[in-house]
Amino acid sequence: MTDGVAWLRQSALPAEAGILTSLPDSSEMRRLPFAGWRQWFIDTAAVVVSAVHERSAAVFYQTDVKRDGAWVDKAFLLQLGAEAAGVRLLWHKIVCRAPAGTATGGRPGYAHLLCFSRALDDPVETAMPDVLPRLGPMTWSRAMGLCAVEFAVAWLRDHAGAKVIVDPFCGVGTALAVANRLGLDSIGVEIASGRAEKARQLRA
Ligand SMILES: C[S@@+](CC[C@H](N)C(=O)[O-])C[C@H]1O[C@@H](n2cnc3c(N)ncnc32)[C@H](O)[C@@H]1O
Repeated sequence: MTDGVAWLRQSALPAEAGILTSLPDSSEMRRLPFAGWRQWFIDTAAVVVSAVHERSAAVFYQTDVKRDGAWVDKAFLLQLGAEAAGVRLLWHKIVCRAPAGTATGGRPGYAHLLCFSRALDDPVETAMPDVLPRLGPMTWSRAMGLCAVEFAVAWLRDHAGAKVIVDPFCGVGTALAVANRLGLDSIGVEIASGRAEKARQLRA
């Protein structure tokens, strides 16, 4: 049971460590008013993108929410944090939660995958899809979808040289388990002890 922000601040991650994470929604941090969560989210995005080695990358998986009749766009909040930290956006993918053209009501029909790095480039000749067709199964309601995680881990391994996947807000450990299945080591940090315990057991 550890605070991911404090852990990142005191960790110098090596070049072979890539970050794949999903920052908590405001509904998971009710001790903070919405404006406080919003600033925490931006500041924490800045800490995450700064913690990763300049030759590696940090990938975020986030889903937007509707609040008081307006969207909270977490891709925008991540980019505010990254801009404040002086770190570049390498790519931004949309992952379909529902087939294109489907109305989904309260939750959006997509999730975001955003990748940031200080020194890596996304070469124009590297053709990658910008819209991924499905999230894949989820281990719990706030989990990352498995297909999106597989995409992100494989990208970090193949294009950022990652041998270790770090998730400083690991929940039940979806990113860690997929990383292990794809042949990488993994390190997770989680503040809720029950989830940290599940993360030790999860296989994907
Ligand atoms: C969106 S969920 C991550 C879910 C995870 N990707 C999964 O697949 O299970 C965010 C997680 O961050 C955890 N969390 C919240 N504040 C934290 C903090 N300060 N340090 C570490 N973990 C924290 C929450 O307990 C929650 O499990």
